Amino acid sequence: MGRLRRPVEEFEQDVPQDLGPLQFVKLRKHHSLVDDAWFCDRITVQGPGALEEAAFPCYRWVQGQGVLTLPEGTARLAGNNTLDVFQKHREKELEERQQIYCWATWKEGLPMTIAAGSLDDLPPNMRFHEQKRLDFEWTVIAGLMEMALKYVYTLPSPWKRLEDFDQIFWGQKTALAGQLFAQVHHNPLMTLLMRIPANVIQGVQQYLAAPLVMLKMEASGKLLPMVIQLLIPHTRYTMDINTRARNQLISDGGLFDKAWSTGGGGLVQVFRRAMTQLTYRSLCPPDDLADRGLLGIPSALYAHDALRLWEIIARYVEGIVHLFYHGDDIVRGDPELQAWCREITEVGLCQAQDRGFPVSFQSRAQLCHFLTMCIFTCSAQHAAVNMGQFDWYAWIPNAPGSMRMPPPTNKEDVTMDTVMGSLPSFWQTSLQVIATSLISQPPPDMVPLGHHQEEYFSGPEPKAVLRQFQADLDNLEKEIVARNEQLDLPYEYLKPSLIENSIAI
Ligand SMILES: [Fe+2]
Repeated sequence: MGRLRRPVEEFEQDVPQDLGPLQFVKLRKHHSLVDDAWFCDRITVQGPGALEEAAFPCYRWVQGQGVLTLPEGTARLAGNNTLDVFQKHREKELEERQQIYCWATWKEGLPMTIAAGSLDDLPPNMRFHEQKRLDFEWTVIAGLMEMALKYVYTLPSPWKRLEDFDQIFWGQKTALAGQLFAQVHHNPLMTLLMRIPANVIQGVQQYLAAPLVMLKMEASGKLLPMVIQLLIPHTRYTMDINTRARNQLISDGGLFDKAWSTGGGGLVQVFRRAMTQLTYRSLCPPDDLADRGLLGIPSALYAHDALRLWEIIARYVEGIVHLFYHGDDIVRGDPELQAWCREITEVGLCQAQDRGFPVSFQSRAQLCHFLTMCIFTCSAQHAAVNMGQFDWYAWIPNAPGSMRMPPPTNKEDVTMDTVMGSLPSFWQTSLQVIATSLISQPPPDMVPLGHHQEEYFSGPEPKAVLRQFQADLDNLEKEIVARNEQLDLPYEYLKPSLIENSIAI
């Protein structure tokens, strides 16, 4: 157990009576003067005699007057026995959770979110732990302070040369950042951005244009919490970071309104359009890469690493699922699982069955595919998109978040003055650099993919499957390191040790 800002402590308690085989343990916090919260990992019970150890996973805050009832950690299938104590417990737990975790529409046309207007409305178990919150907020403050100092000492306004941007390009330049050159080419992003209203920042009208890249291919080249438990480590901190993003980044008056040409409002419109293109296939690399013509291209490093990760995650998911679901009929007959699937597609993703998302699982294979998609998206896909942001956006001329003049219509009119006058101001530049460095740094308490410490499943088999997953990831790590040694510009974003287990930033 660990208390807020206190180290972890272990407690032992001897029980003189023989209680027989245990099904549940109940946990309540003794109240002293202050109602401080404790985070309990798990309770294990040993004996009597040669009885095997029984584990009761918790991984929750214990606070207030409530009593937590923790079932033994062996995954169980739904039974038809309504007298079954585990089934009764699960039904009660689901009812409680439906009260705590409610859907809300943040903006029409976007996926639904948790009903939480602010961070304080989030369930405590979904919040950043204290150290994570302090690290996160301190990084923001440190960035703002550094910006203020640079503003005072090196005031570079007005910009004259592209090199002026180096003054705000602090920290170590990465191998990629600063080497990037955008080229004009017809691009589907044009349609996505067409008629998105442009922002006004500090009284100055802004302009936006699609970011363009041209790539060239070289010739050489009912009672079954187990599934949801399988996913819990991959959702750590996600509600907290997403609530922060909705309230501080893309909200009215948020960071996008302050520095980006779309503002928060335009960005929501972009999301709305992107949502209509969000298909189930687009979230699954074997389908997505095929649809985008990226299979079998040696230099498509993302494609290669994403496919390998997909296979490794799929093997892990299948290993766990097959331990508990012994046939397709068991999947079809699990009401909780089926309700979960339908709710994601019909409610959370706003009737996404038209875009290929399932409304039921008919087989173990279909279930495994969906779970693999969930874990891949929350870990590898997020890493691939998120971690390159500093490389891509920190050197502002490569990817300006805003333009202060409309794009030129002919080459002859473009002078260095028009380029510098179009690029973002010192203030916008600083905010872009702070934001991208904040989200691209590995957080101090990062948990790499497959290395969560929580043990939700009792028994040796799930542990063996997890160990195999870790071994597969290790092998891929070695392959990627060896491959990268041969490259001028290594592709690191999908190196397993750098992939976070959940969307936590
Ligand atoms: Fe993120």
